[in-house]
Amino acid sequence: MKETENFDQTIYIRKVREKIQEAQQQLGRKLTFCVQTFGCQMNARDSEKLTGILMAMGYVPSVSETADFVIYNTCTVRENANRKVYGRLGKLKHLKEQNPHMRIALCGCMMQESHVVEKIKDSYRFVDLIFGTHNIYRFAQLVHQAMESHSMVVEIWDKTHEIVENLPAQRKYFFKSGVNIMFGCNNFCSYCIVPYVRGRERSRQPQAILDEIQKLVDDGVVEVMLLGQNVNSYGKTLEHPVSFSALLSQIAEIPGLERIRFMTSHPKDLSDQLIETMASSEKICRHLHLPVQSGSSRILEKMNRKYTKESYLELVSRIRQAMPDLALTTDIIVGFPGETEEDFQDTLDIVRKVRYSSAFTFQYSKRSGTPAAVMEDQVPEEVMQDRFDRLLDTVQAIAKEECASLEKTTGKVLVEQVNHQDSRLLTGRLGNNLLVHFPGDQSLIGKITDVYLSECKGFYYMGEMI
Ligand code: SAH
Ligand code: SF4
Ligand code: F3S
Repeated sequence: MKETENFDQTIYIRKVREKIQEAQQQLGRKLTFCVQTFGCQMNARDSEKLTGILMAMGYVPSVSETADFVIYNTCTVRENANRKVYGRLGKLKHLKEQNPHMRIALCGCMMQESHVVEKIKDSYRFVDLIFGTHNIYRFAQLVHQAMESHSMVVEIWDKTHEIVENLPAQRKYFFKSGVNIMFGCNNFCSYCIVPYVRGRERSRQPQAILDEIQKLVDDGVVEVMLLGQNVNSYGKTLEHPVSFSALLSQIAEIPGLERIRFMTSHPKDLSDQLIETMASSEKICRHLHLPVQSGSSRILEKMNRKYTKESYLELVSRIRQAMPDLALTTDIIVGFPGETEEDFQDTLDIVRKVRYSSAFTFQYSKRSGTPAAVMEDQVPEEVMQDRFDRLLDTVQAIAKEECASLEKTTGKVLVEQVNHQDSRLLTGRLGNNLLVHFPGDQSLIGKITDVYLSECKGFYYMGEMI
């Protein structure tokens, strides 16, 4: 079944390519595409797959939304992600009026919500194609269908058991890549819509992951980011269960692969074995993203996070003991229903105790269909804003101090690009994910270099190659 589907997609890529060649001949120019990513790193990785398919079809990439094919890969984790999409769609309508060849497709998490699809069908009739998160691998076939059809093509599945391997993908950077190790989520944190729009947790077979990484390394990749909503529960639902730490150990043995990152880690599933594996490997970066969400055990329980303030702090101390040089980062929500000033003080307290190197801070956003949306005591907007501001001040003051701790030491930097502001400088990342700018030649892009971190400028370093 899987192979037949995959085979079918190759046929559709070829069919679309023929149509595009025809159109290009008629127009006397190339047809362009632009994929816009609105969501998380998994969303970004999906965009790379869409890009790979579009390039196989013969479209050429463009960064402008005046392209002949514009795809919005949407996110719905918070309400403002949705608002952004509707706002931008309004502008696309005008562009489409000026370019009769333009096609517009919408996909991603927001499309898994029926009220969104209804609204687009009613008010955004100029959209050509809508599909969801579960059928992204049928993209080529759907594009073909949209080209043949004179009305909007909509295909949304409410779930899937499939994991389709070997889709083409076009990486943004030649030297690093995201790698999905699992899809979906089973945790149902009470505020979160992801399990509803991404479906149940499904892990890829370890061999498929190892093969993909080997291929990437053969193609010049030195750093991989293993992706999943909760990587610590990787492999539990496989027919022959494999732990995340066992997977990591196997990945670390791939010759030529120099750096391994992963996200996200749910604190409830982070094992001692994983801490040991991280501590004993040179290749696994000294960075752990460990979303805490709140410092109040009472709120954590209402969030269905399955840990307490105390157990989180205890976990952090075990991690720090094993890896004193590890940078911890986190996600925090303020204004969850029923959050009091006292609960919020617990959040400030945990931030002060853990001392995160950086934190994504969010105001709680009500997502319809989730348990928290119907909880009593929703926190008023102005209270939420006030707590958000205070949290940000605390987080940033600590993050600045943490980031400066490497000043006047030497670190290994993976060079990513020529600096956007000053072309004499290169920009790269330390293992702990901090950015470093230093003078150097662009032939170093994609290489790991020793850099003396001469000065910390808040959240990044200025350095010199040694
Ligand atoms: N799987 C990851 C998080 C994915 S969503 C994990 O469990 O850590 C990324 C972040 O968005 C979450 O960590 C949370 O902080 C935030 N978030 C999710 N739903 C939200 C909501 N309804 N309102 C505000 N922030 C939310
Ligand atoms: Fe959402 Fe919780 Fe799953 Fe993360 S673990 S995606 S926050 S339900
Ligand atoms: Fe957004 Fe979907 Fe990721 S809702 S955060 S793009 S999984």
